Amino acid sequence: MNKLIKKFAVLGHPISHSLSPQIHSLFAKELSIILEYKKFDINQDKFDEHLKNFIKKGFYGLNITLPLKNSAFKICSELSERASLCKSVNTITFLDNKILGDTTDGIGIVNDLKNKAINLENKNILLVGAGGSANGILYDLIQTKAKRIFITNRTLSKAVEMKEYWGKFSNKNQVILKVVELNSFSNLNFDLIINATSSFLTNGESPISNNVFNHLNDGGACYELMYGQETPFMKEASNKTNLVFDGLGMLVEQAAESFYIWHNLKPKIKNVEIFNSSGFESFR
Ligand code: ATR
Repeated sequence: MNKLIKKFAVLGHPISHSLSPQIHSLFAKELSIILEYKKFDINQDKFDEHLKNFIKKGFYGLNITLPLKNSAFKICSELSERASLCKSVNTITFLDNKILGDTTDGIGIVNDLKNKAINLENKNILLVGAGGSANGILYDLIQTKAKRIFITNRTLSKAVEMKEYWGKFSNKNQVILKVVELNSFSNLNFDLIINATSSFLTNGESPISNNVFNHLNDGGACYELMYGQETPFMKEASNKTNLVFDGLGMLVEQAAESFYIWHNLKPKIKNVEIFNSSGFESFR
């Protein structure tokens, strides 16, 4: 391998379904950059040793996916503000003996919503979930200048913790954060409902009852962070609105942002159909 060719990889477990190598290769082709991008099945055990190996082998950057984003956050020597607040890293750059960490998931969903002409300014969002995925996008959701973000979760105490944790940042951005009990939203209406839970993987069901979709405003949208197949959340949402999306657009947009961090160039490819055609399975 020519030493001038920059080496990249995505790490996670499982990883076989990852589209990141294809996406980054397409971006590189568009921008005439020569790179190598591989995927590695890596578990949390000895993550730090694995990382040292990638440094030794001369890798320039890594994408990190589930379940390693928090481990990556802990190991970086420098973090962006958003990675630091989200406690999540999906983009690592090895530079001058430093391990730089950033997260592009939040910007990924926000940019994808923009592509879909969904403006969040002054709008009401229901965020379902209070785990790593929900926390990983909240920084950028708050920065959209949404009016109110309601957090709900099966385990309500985690939603309460999340609200407390993000309180200062949301106040600074003049966004109201509230916790609501799962499935009891009597007087509330939403412009966007985001499913940031893993319920499809844990019990194959929607995390919220059908009734919640009656609280969508006209023109309201529903967004599933998973991609690859219609989840029960998406199916039930489709009975109420045509604006139902999976996370494929977010995947492409978060990759575009990682690409920008590494190459200082923004790929223009937005046609997710290109990626859809590869027949991948459901993955997050
Ligand atoms: P991730 O990093 O994917 O967010 P996580 O931190 O384990 O993973 O969080 C998973 C989220 O999905 C949590 O909000 C979880 O709810 P709990 O906090 O109550 O565990 C949610 N979740 C998982 N399975 C679910 C289900 N069957 N119904 C509702 N919520 C579910």
